[in-house]
Amino acid sequence: MALFSNIDLADDITTAKSIRFNKNGKLKIMHITDTHLDDSNIDASVWLIGKACDKEMPDIVIITGDNVGNHGDISATKGYIDKLMSVFESRKLTVAVTFGNHDSECETGMTREELMDYYNTFSCSISVDDGELLSGCGTYNIPVLASNTDDVKFNLWMFDSGSYDNEGHYANVLEDKVEWYKAKSDVLKELNGGKPVYSFAFQHTIVPEVYEALKKVNKQKLFSFPHMYNKSDYYMFDPNVKNYGTFNETPCCGYYNHGQFDAMVEKGDVLGIFTGHDHTNAFGVQYKGIDIVNSLSTRYNGDKFSTQYGYRILEVDENNTSEYTSRVEHWYDMFTREDISSLKASGDDFGVETAKDVTYKGFLRKIFENVCRGFTKLVTGRKVTYDEISK
Ligand SMILES: [Fe+2]
Repeated sequence: MALFSNIDLADDITTAKSIRFNKNGKLKIMHITDTHLDDSNIDASVWLIGKACDKEMPDIVIITGDNVGNHGDISATKGYIDKLMSVFESRKLTVAVTFGNHDSECETGMTREELMDYYNTFSCSISVDDGELLSGCGTYNIPVLASNTDDVKFNLWMFDSGSYDNEGHYANVLEDKVEWYKAKSDVLKELNGGKPVYSFAFQHTIVPEVYEALKKVNKQKLFSFPHMYNKSDYYMFDPNVKNYGTFNETPCCGYYNHGQFDAMVEKGDVLGIFTGHDHTNAFGVQYKGIDIVNSLSTRYNGDKFSTQYGYRILEVDENNTSEYTSRVEHWYDMFTREDISSLKASGDDFGVETAKDVTYKGFLRKIFENVCRGFTKLVTGRKVTYDEISK
């Protein structure tokens, strides 16, 4: 702890450039994750992300890992990053990046540090390489200032949740980062007159406590999924707990728990932990006052997942930072018939093809999903929706 006792927030290498609530006193965040960009999906994915940015115009885009294919061909990797970051650069949007298990798993590809350096060649990036201070790369915080003063009104935590542990399991946020978080949280609290600065946390991998927030069942039931490591235990939404969205697959947390969630409960500043990694899960469960939320994969490669892939939007009002709203947008819902007509009129042939692909391929899938949802309601009495989260 002594390492952080004299921390100077302004000079601290783990603090990004601050951002600000917009002139309407709101902060709009677009959460993108698991784009896994490669030759098979890059063009459609970045075109769709661009359309989403035009529609939402977020104050900041947060990207939480497994961003691009990084399989040893460094010039290809850089090319994917170029195309992704150009979407934001050309729209003058601010971007913060951290990493997942796949970003640096290829030994002949780019390291996390090299990737971070490359992301930061784009002026839209406010991402931070935390250097030697912390393990991994991409653990930092982004203070959010008031719209018309320099008071820190909100905060965004970015965590590198690592890739794999020595035994080959998925990793979790390690102890050094937990200690860093606790110390930095105290600094922010002190600056805020002794009150915690409400925050969101973003990272690739979900916290293991998700299994405490879900309901354990002894045998497989409809809409339950096995535990990541104890495969004989099954889990489903607990009807007695506030939960949201869709639960489609086993939450793949790391094996060893290094205390991140407990530290956040102790500090009382984090409203929600937003993760990716599990591509088709788009749910939130509330546990010990914190929303544990998984966002869906943001890539599109012409498969059936147009109804399940997309992005999440979070909004906070500077006049009440203890609450927020969240919504999930799927690629399938993005285009109306009129949108496709106007793309045709503008001569955007690639756009027409992509919008049609997303819309038409998703159609049958949507019918299937709605039948499943109706069936869920019939069997469990629980309505499965994409309703807004509001704490
Ligand atoms: Fe992942």
